[in-house]
Amino acid sequence: MNAPPLTILVIPGDGIGREVIPAAVAVLQSTGLPLRFAEADAGWECFQRCGEALPLETLDAARAADAVLFGAVASPSHPVAGYRSPIVRLRRELDLYANIRPVFDDPPRAGDLRARRVDLVVVRENTEGLYAGRERVEDGGATAIAERVITRRASERIARVAFELARARHAARSAEDAPPAKVTIVHKANVLRETCGLFRAVALEVAQAYPDVQADEMLVDACALQLATRPERFDVIVTTNLFGDILSDVACAWGGGLGLASSANLGERHALFEPVHGAAPDIAGKGIANPLAAIGCAALLLDHLAHRAPLDVASDFRAWSARIQRAIRRVRVAGPHTPDLGGNAVTSEVTNAVIAHTLTS
Ligand code: NAI
Ligand code: MG
Repeated sequence: MNAPPLTILVIPGDGIGREVIPAAVAVLQSTGLPLRFAEADAGWECFQRCGEALPLETLDAARAADAVLFGAVASPSHPVAGYRSPIVRLRRELDLYANIRPVFDDPPRAGDLRARRVDLVVVRENTEGLYAGRERVEDGGATAIAERVITRRASERIARVAFELARARHAARSAEDAPPAKVTIVHKANVLRETCGLFRAVALEVAQAYPDVQADEMLVDACALQLATRPERFDVIVTTNLFGDILSDVACAWGGGLGLASSANLGERHALFEPVHGAAPDIAGKGIANPLAAIGCAALLLDHLAHRAPLDVASDFRAWSARIQRAIRRVRVAGPHTPDLGGNAVTSEVTNAVIAHTLTS
């Protein structure tokens, strides 16, 4: 097998992005799959050094790559002239419209008697909504306004992703008594009548084309409570950009917290994988960041690249993805654990344990 390597653009970014992304790359390299790595710069330190948060070379390299592995960037909460979060911009420039955030609580928590485990995915619209970047001030700064943009086109395509995903997840569940596929459409159409009203109406229209998938709907505040109290009732959640950002952080508490939450940003032509967490300045540089979220991204990336890989190695990509996911699960159960999971291991110990399990499973 002499397949030409697929190119992965690595953007570590700021803070712990620089610690967890090398861990994910080490896991990918241990597989021996035909992958080629290139690295590019983005983020707050990049902005301070060269005046650009997302240099043109980085954007071009991301467009040219088969996939992007992104760490995290630090963004100040006060306005800085010329600075915009590079990840929000990358998602829009590459038209990565679907942000897929899976959460599962395997192993179950001690003393947990619930019959069903948490196994859900938040599907977040990634290009518009309140993150459309249409903010302005009026009255000499006394009034600040953000426009919330919802389009039929973006709502329809994200709803399709959610229903397709629910169908595929159901097909992959082997148990006879597997629960039915379900998509919960989350909105606040009782208040945001036009924007959420459009999102809701389009998503319910899309649902008609999927009679095999149950569709229900929920107001976003009720959904937040349900995610905190009855997470096992959810299968696939589809929602708008800001709601999805917040709800996926709530949901990931069930999956071991931010240190374990991975995500895929998918479009028609491009794909970017990133941990849900940020630059974590409180622990950056200490070598104790949990690399499992980033390593989980490596697994999602391999599964995705199976579609682009030459036929003779596509199944290898899927097999290594599954092995890495099993290795993550083993480390989650048996350790070693970084401090966020109650242990005292450092990033490299966890990474080495995942590599060892990946190679022997
Ligand atoms: P954060 O995710 O960076 O950190 C929140 C808390 O979780 C911190 O206590 C941190 O130590 C902990 N944590 C996060 N990831 C961890 C890991 N892998 N292992 C162990 N502990 C972990 O979010 P925060 O503090 O709200 O934001 C910090 C900076 O990151 C800000 O500048 C923000 O703009 C940026 N950020 C960037 C994101 C991105 O690049 N996609 C996403 C979220 C925040
Ligand atoms: Mg977030």
